[in-house]
Amino acid sequence: MRFAILGAGRIGIAHVSTLMAQTGVSELLVADLDPARARTAAESVGAASHGTIDDAFSFRPDGIVIAAPTPAHAELILRAVRAGIPTFCEKPLAESLASSVAVVEEVERHDVPVQIGFQRRFDAGYRAAKQALEAGDIGELRRLHLLTCDPTPPPAEYIPQSGGIYRDCHIHDFDILRWVTGREVVSVFATGTNRGAAFFGEAGDVDESAALLTLDDGTLATLQGSRYNGAGYDVRMELAGTLGNRSVGLDDRVPLTSAEPGVGFPAGTPWPNFQERFAAAYSAELAAFVSVAAGERPSPCTPREALEALYIAEAATLSRAEGRSVRLDEVRG
Ligand SMILES: NC(=O)c1ccc[n+]([C@@H]2O[C@H](COP(=O)([O-])OP(=O)(O)OC[C@H]3O[C@@H](n4cnc5c(N)ncnc54)[C@H](O)[C@@H]3O)[C@@H](O)[C@H]2O)c1
Repeated sequence: MRFAILGAGRIGIAHVSTLMAQTGVSELLVADLDPARARTAAESVGAASHGTIDDAFSFRPDGIVIAAPTPAHAELILRAVRAGIPTFCEKPLAESLASSVAVVEEVERHDVPVQIGFQRRFDAGYRAAKQALEAGDIGELRRLHLLTCDPTPPPAEYIPQSGGIYRDCHIHDFDILRWVTGREVVSVFATGTNRGAAFFGEAGDVDESAALLTLDDGTLATLQGSRYNGAGYDVRMELAGTLGNRSVGLDDRVPLTSAEPGVGFPAGTPWPNFQERFAAAYSAELAAFVSVAAGERPSPCTPREALEALYIAEAATLSRAEGRSVRLDEVRG
């Protein structure tokens, strides 16, 4: 099968090698607005060619992977769907709520599968936690904590087009919260601060974040994030209930140091970045997309589900801006 990747930046270049390693992928074209980036990414693997965005569509691929910046997602998804090409697009669905709703409505009028890139759904730990909750091993869920911390900020130029920390980063937490628990968020109180580089504040964004989320069964969830977690890349989820608990991400590479004398855990090298922490998950999600493009399975993460995660991010963004709790009904309306 033939694939094209649009965007060869931080995540795009990783997807190039991950996609080429999948069974069933014979040809790959890498396209970027910057021809040098497309060429470098293509040359990093064998059997890949490079070109412009128009070249990627003329190539008539069996599937398109969009790894361009968030403001380009809506236009590229719709161009691919109108051309009848199965599409994978990185999160978030689009840069604004209005364009995300428009994308969902148009995608649902076509019979072309679209998969959004929430790779945590393919991570072994999150999958095991979901199974444990569904099997009743945790009992009735009472407590949930989510954590997403980068060791260092993304490049300064990334931030103004990212949509802010809730849409860009915590959207992963919002999606996995819904997916693991099967529950909806009804209200959010979010806050954040600027302790780091001036470019966060200049873009109206924060580099330290926290939120309290209430689920539709009354479960309280807390969330924290940072762009300056010196110990490493720390992504975790804790679920606790009336019978037991599960901790996702608590492995030998978790960037934690115990203060207890004699404790040797964790023994490994801390996760340095998202590319290493989620390498297996990215591979599994792109393997799923190859099956989607082959018509063997439906999309495992539709634009409609991505929109649900975006509603939570919108509520969190509004909550932080106005310093009040925001009900999801308000942003849906
Ligand atoms: N799932 C994840 O874990 C994850 C991780 C990082 C980024 N992302 C998402 O991936 C997207 C890209 O992020 P990044 O960090 O790789 O950004 P980046 O800035 O490193 O790379 C973006 C690339 O796209 C190119 N580009 C710009 N406009 C384009 C267009 N219209 N068509 C094609 N290419 C274009 C740029 O030249 C650049 O090479 C963002 O939407 C981001 O939210 C997801």
